[in-house]
Amino acid sequence: MSTPFAKTPFQIRPLDAADWPAVWALLAPTFARADTYSYPPDISEAAARAAWVAAPAATFVACDADGSILGTYFIKPNQPGQGAHVCNCGYVTAEAARGRGIAAAMCEHSQGEARRMGFRAMQFNFVVSTNEGAVRLWQRHGFDIVGTLPGAFRHPVHGYVDAHVMFKTLIHV
Ligand SMILES: CC(C)(COP(=O)(O)OP(=O)(O)OC[C@H]1O[C@@H](n2cnc3c(N)ncnc32)[C@H](O)[C@@H]1OP(=O)(O)O)[C@@H](O)C(=O)NCCC(=O)NCCS
Repeated sequence: MSTPFAKTPFQIRPLDAADWPAVWALLAPTFARADTYSYPPDISEAAARAAWVAAPAATFVACDADGSILGTYFIKPNQPGQGAHVCNCGYVTAEAARGRGIAAAMCEHSQGEARRMGFRAMQFNFVVSTNEGAVRLWQRHGFDIVGTLPGAFRHPVHGYVDAHVMFKTLIHV
């Protein structure tokens, strides 16, 4: 890895209720920028908590040795019923902690958790095409762009831009 922080240790563990204020502190500015996710930019803390913590099957945090929260991800079934064997995840790294490999580690961790939970594949529904670092990152971790939704994301700077559906099979039989 190429940053001076690359060797700084961090661990990934399940979210505790006490972690929420720190998790919200990193989600809020990310959602407010409105350039990577389609959550309302002015989403309330309660709605964000419902979406990131209550609705998913599990939520995890990446923490520094001193316990500071550096990143978070959730995992949930992408569809109910007959589509529930494919999971969906969302990932955010704190702005100050980006480029340290935290999302890479969360992506690998989430795939392990997904397999452990019995999911057979992972799908990202709405990867904004201008979020090129994220697209590259997911591709490096084995995700393919299986479809592109033309102009599906209204970017605050670039206007209507494409969004990718990205998919990785986790269980090969
Ligand atoms: C995308 C995101 C999760 C990546 O987190 P991260 O912890 O910085 O990612 P990593 O350090 O593991 O990986 C960095 C790699 O991804 C690329 N990258 C990802 N996001 C980047 C960003 N915002 N700026 C620059 N590079 C980025 C880098 O090029 C780097 O690749 P390299 O190793 O070849 O240099 C983070 O930027 C983020 O939280 N963004 C806002 C929310 C978001 O976009 N989530 C994903 C939605 S699909």
